[in-house]
Amino acid sequence: MFEKVLFLKQAVRRHHTTGAIWPSSGALARSITRLVAAKSRPARILEVGPGTGAFTREIAQHLCPDDELVLVEINPDFVAVLQHLIEHHPALRQHQDRIRIICAPVETAPLSAKFDYVISGLPLNNFDPALVRRILRRFRALAEPGGKLSFFEYYGLRRLRMSLGRQQTRSRLREIEAVIRVYERRYGLAREVVLRNFPPALVRHWCFDEPHGSRVR
Ligand SMILES: C[S@@+](CC[C@H](N)C(=O)[O-])C[C@H]1O[C@@H](n2cnc3c(N)ncnc32)[C@H](O)[C@@H]1O
Repeated sequence: MFEKVLFLKQAVRRHHTTGAIWPSSGALARSITRLVAAKSRPARILEVGPGTGAFTREIAQHLCPDDELVLVEINPDFVAVLQHLIEHHPALRQHQDRIRIICAPVETAPLSAKFDYVISGLPLNNFDPALVRRILRRFRALAEPGGKLSFFEYYGLRRLRMSLGRQQTRSRLREIEAVIRVYERRYGLAREVVLRNFPPALVRHWCFDEPHGSRVR
């Protein structure tokens, strides 16, 4: 419960980066980690925007002895919760020595390794289109060839804000939609609507299946 209250407080205090009022549900966590759950060999996994660890707990169920997990979280209050989680959660504790937390924005976080899976909880619809472009480029650059990206947005919310929001919000969201559409056409693997989440969510899975420097800018 402490984590949910902290999440709610951060949702108010740092609305722009938290981008949600409640942690994601188990159903959304299972959907977004679907590809990780199906992995058949040791993997490097990057989770971006773990918050209080809704997806981290699910990833933990699928960690094997040779896997590595890196968490990148911008909010130091969430980082403290994650640190505690890693030390005390039974499925995470046993992999502690191969889990690293970086407190930084993902766009500048010091990451040199490549990852087989990137799981993102970032609220992209809250950001400037230029930042969304930069983050997606970074995700692609951080992925191994054939690496997978899974992320979500609230179902239908962008469209709703595009029709009801102010002109500035509309054109910002229209640009974000266009950026995502270009990537999705090139790399889209699967989509899933998760109704058992508040609010319902759309999960996208992409596969970066060609060397970097491809046509998507
Ligand atoms: C919608 S919350 C998702 C939290 C959690 N994954 C969940 O689903 O309950 C977004 C998270 O992304 C983090 N975040 C926002 N911008 C970030 C950035 N540029 N780099 C890393 N983390 C970021 C926020 O602090 C927050 O924890």
